Amino acid sequence: MTAAAQVGETRALLESLVERIDVGIFAVDRSATVVLWNTFMAIHSGKSSAAMLGQNLFAMFPELPRAWLEKKLESVFILGNNAFTLWNLRPYLFRFANSRPITGGLAEMRQNVTFLPIRFAGGEVALVCGTVFDYTDTAIAQHKLHDAIGALHQEKDAQAQLIVKLEAAQNQLLQAEKMASIGQLAAGIAHEINNPVGFVNSNLQTLKKYCQQMLQLIMTYQGAATQIGDVELREKISALTQTMDIDFLQEDLPDLIKESEDGLLRIKKIVEDLKDFSHVNKSDWQYADLNAGLDSTLNVVWNEVKYKATVAKNYGVLPAVECLAAQLNQVFLNLIVNAVQALDESKGMGTITLATGHQDEWVWVEVQDNGLGMSAETKKRLFEPFFTTKPVGKGTGLGMSVSYNIVQKHHGRIELDSLPGEGTRFRVWVPVKQAKMVD
Ligand SMILES: Nc1ncnc2c1ncn2[C@@H]1O[C@H](COP(=O)(O)OP(=O)(O)O)[C@@H](O)[C@H]1O
Ligand SMILES: [Mg+2]
Repeated sequence: MTAAAQVGETRALLESLVERIDVGIFAVDRSATVVLWNTFMAIHSGKSSAAMLGQNLFAMFPELPRAWLEKKLESVFILGNNAFTLWNLRPYLFRFANSRPITGGLAEMRQNVTFLPIRFAGGEVALVCGTVFDYTDTAIAQHKLHDAIGALHQEKDAQAQLIVKLEAAQNQLLQAEKMASIGQLAAGIAHEINNPVGFVNSNLQTLKKYCQQMLQLIMTYQGAATQIGDVELREKISALTQTMDIDFLQEDLPDLIKESEDGLLRIKKIVEDLKDFSHVNKSDWQYADLNAGLDSTLNVVWNEVKYKATVAKNYGVLPAVECLAAQLNQVFLNLIVNAVQALDESKGMGTITLATGHQDEWVWVEVQDNGLGMSAETKKRLFEPFFTTKPVGKGTGLGMSVSYNIVQKHHGRIELDSLPGEGTRFRVWVPVKQAKMVD
């Protein structure tokens, strides 16, 4: 084969390649007249090469972004550099139908177009050749990827939220555990105190009787003292009677015993309250008197309350309520402690009002203070675990979130009324009976 023949054959091969390649190839001259239009372009535009050659590109495709494209072509003619348009910035140049109607997803073929300057014999740029690459698949894949990443992000957010919830739940568990062990401790101590209190009480009764008898005897002796003949002995008795102030002793002894009895009664009451409060061995659902629960809880925190507030009580008659009594007491405890801590000490003694009531199938327990009240922001975040406005060491921010969960467990609700500077009123509603037993 001659060199000329070889060149001819190579050219024919190139031409058929340009025709058959799966890339759109077209060329225009400076006046935008089409001089090349390959099969890809013909198939996708529906305009044959014969129809296109010699025609003005913009006349044949009025939907093209003319101003932009003219500028682009002109820059290639003048500067002689490649220019591009990318599908992710400009989805398409030619409005060709999606080449993947089955995979679907996009109505128009996404295109990357490269504009190449063509020079003949090293001269000026005579033509600009456009190559149109179909990027629809990539675009669809990228859309899917984008969606998947979005879904992943959502999942990640949901997970983060879940972790926060888990942490809160764990902390509540810890808190509940702590309360349970405090309860057990209290119950244990109460039990231990019970024994000595029992025998001190019984001894005191005997002591009281003995004292009465001895006093009687002494009084009788006193009456007889004047009749003693021995002067020395008489004077000794009279001196002793005076130094001992026997009259006062006679008066004071019964008082001392009475006071001791009262003291013992108080110890007994505290022990009972401790037992009530901790509800030894009673972590199950039971019917309980909430007025009694409120009282025993108040006694347990009385030391915190008594120097800061006077407590007013306004209890209604309540039916026995099906509840986890120890846990409800914990709610009352949290509310009372919060009420005390909210009091403005600069204003002297505060007032805490405890009230209860009964309405249809519900009972309510109310704890009201005339303390600092809450801002709107605090109200919003009140039940969040770890939300506290108190200094480190004073507040854990768990009281209200634990209370919320306990009330929730009882299928009840907590109402709140609070004004900054005026005070706060919490009202806990619980149903008298649970729909079904759950723990
Ligand atoms: N009776 C109340 N008066 C005013 N603010 C209250 C009262 N009860 C609760 N709060 C507010 O709610 C916050 C959260 O309460 P709580 O969960 O018991 O946590 P803590 O008492 O440890 O701060 C408190 O820090 C306080 O700002
Ligand atoms: Mg608290």
